[in-house]
Amino acid sequence: MATTAEYGIGEFTFPRGWFMVGESPDATKKPIPLRYFGRDLVMYRGESGRVVVMDAYCPHMKTHLAKNDSSYIVMDGKQVEGDDIRCPYHAWKFGPDGMCNEIPYSPAPIPKAAKIKSYPVQEWGGLILMWHDEEDGEPDFQPHPLPEWDDPKWVNWKVDHLGVLDCHPQEIIDNMTDKAHLGPIHGSTNMEYFESECKDHVIRQLLAAGHRTLSDDVMTNDTWYTGPGILLSRMNGYYNSLMMICHTPIEDGQLRAWHGLTVEPPNHPMTPEDEEAVPAFQEGSKLALLQDFDVWANKAPCLSIMQVVGDGPFGKARAWYKQFYNPRKDAKKYQAKSNGHWVTKGTKRDPWEMDAAE
Ligand code: FES
Ligand SMILES: [Fe+2]
Repeated sequence: MATTAEYGIGEFTFPRGWFMVGESPDATKKPIPLRYFGRDLVMYRGESGRVVVMDAYCPHMKTHLAKNDSSYIVMDGKQVEGDDIRCPYHAWKFGPDGMCNEIPYSPAPIPKAAKIKSYPVQEWGGLILMWHDEEDGEPDFQPHPLPEWDDPKWVNWKVDHLGVLDCHPQEIIDNMTDKAHLGPIHGSTNMEYFESECKDHVIRQLLAAGHRTLSDDVMTNDTWYTGPGILLSRMNGYYNSLMMICHTPIEDGQLRAWHGLTVEPPNHPMTPEDEEAVPAFQEGSKLALLQDFDVWANKAPCLSIMQVVGDGPFGKARAWYKQFYNPRKDAKKYQAKSNGHWVTKGTKRDPWEMDAAE
């Protein structure tokens, strides 16, 4: 694996944006340890239902807030009170904003430095997302709206945990503009068109082709990242569907990934055929992604791509990705380098000139 610095992506090790760190049921009154962005974190759900993600170590004497089963505070189930969390060691209590609001045994004022870094969190499609920003700024974009999640006509995704990849997320992002892998990896056939588009914090791929793993018919795919960690792909065919892929850095050059597919069956309520076909379709979507994983899990880092005519616009996607690894004040500069729309030739609609002459 290679690091962000070796890829030359930017000054920050980890990108700015919304990232999945768990599923909604993972957040309970029992704080759990997480590790993302090279940091130890804790997550819990306060009594109001609010999910809190904060750094793991207490400022008093650096106790891990979620790796303790034997303190009486933990054994008595008293660690979360309201939306606050108490340290298992000396019982200092912290609000969801990370500020210490009680030192039970000390008559002196609470030191100003008695605080833990806490992160913006939201629940989206049954997932827990946290905002990561090395500059500690407020979110400047939101995940794409997900009305399908609350629509009873759609069968919601169940999340597939794809595990840890020793691979920099740059390699995953490269997939967005990678026209030439679609045939060999996914069995794309009869490609009608392949287009790429960058607009500020969104990168998009527009594709119409058959797909040997999923469908013989030509399917249209509209696939986009909103920020660097959350991909959605709308596929229209007999079953309309919306695929989610989330990936979150753990260490520099290592990530964890998840997949899910929500499906709109043509019949509501579903027919017995739909009941069988929908899970099979969800499984097929996961298998298609695992075909990419097989490559990512075993490849060497590609610090620069040997671009040839016929490849998609990899350079644009790499320029787009840089905005999240550099100070927010420079994001516009990277967006200006990547914003635009590209058609990759070698498809039915956009053949090479020599194909057209044939
Ligand atoms: S180490 Fe947390 S209260 Fe002392
Ligand atoms: Fe792929």
